[in-house]
Amino acid sequence: MVPFQEMVYLEERDEYVPLNEVPDGSRVLNISGTELRRRLAEGRSIPQWFTFPEVAKEVRRTHPPRHHQGFTIFFTGLSGSGKSTLANVLLVKLMEMGGRPVTLLDGDLVRKNLSSELGFSREHRDINIRRIGYVASEISKNGGVAICAPIAPYESVRKEVRSMVESNGGGFVLVHVSTSLEVCEERDRKGLYAKARAGVLKQFTGISDPYEAPTNAEVVVQTTERTPEAAAQEILLYLEKAGYIGADKD
Ligand code: ADX
Repeated sequence: MVPFQEMVYLEERDEYVPLNEVPDGSRVLNISGTELRRRLAEGRSIPQWFTFPEVAKEVRRTHPPRHHQGFTIFFTGLSGSGKSTLANVLLVKLMEMGGRPVTLLDGDLVRKNLSSELGFSREHRDINIRRIGYVASEISKNGGVAICAPIAPYESVRKEVRSMVESNGGGFVLVHVSTSLEVCEERDRKGLYAKARAGVLKQFTGISDPYEAPTNAEVVVQTTERTPEAAAQEILLYLEKAGYIGADKD
């Protein structure tokens, strides 16, 4: 093993010195790896003393700030919880903002166009979610925004999709539309809950099939006490806070 001291920037001498050679009382500067990644993600400046401007420019090019990166907004929630309505409001708002192409992968439309041969067993639902995740990761990788709105009742495949998107360089925002089963069933817009209760529809999420509520959602939204616009606003606020939308910080 070849031990070596951490190098720090000694402001008064404008040079780097090993930590154990810093004179007592001198001011030293350093940027940790975590801090550097935060600055890059938020588009903040990298000080001149830390690296050459040419190097900083190259690092920036390969690690664009979050508001230049693609990302995926992944809704999960029961049938009738309001995912599609919310996803559509968000779609319009993000398109109005401009900057990145936005694609909506709605649960029902994906079932019709990408997964028409699949049913609702756990195996088939997982295949369906993996397909959505794959398309979303390609969109995010290329700098776009993918909005996904399936039920996605299982935690493990949601995690798989998150790592698929993130390992491709995209951001991942899980939004739990937490409308309760009672409310969804009372709304029963498509009449499916009634059919599920009557036993006509088998393996129906929330009635005869499980829904695993996420514990790691970036945003949890309520649709009972809020309009879809207000709920979408909460998501936009999160996106801004996390640096996905907005301008360079400095
Ligand atoms: S997921 O479980 O694979 O994520 P997905 O969002 O694609 O589900 O499809 C859910 C939609 O399919 C529901 O909104 C509902 O209209 C319809 N559907 C038909 N049968 C079922 C079922 N057994 N469970 C849940 N949704 C069903």
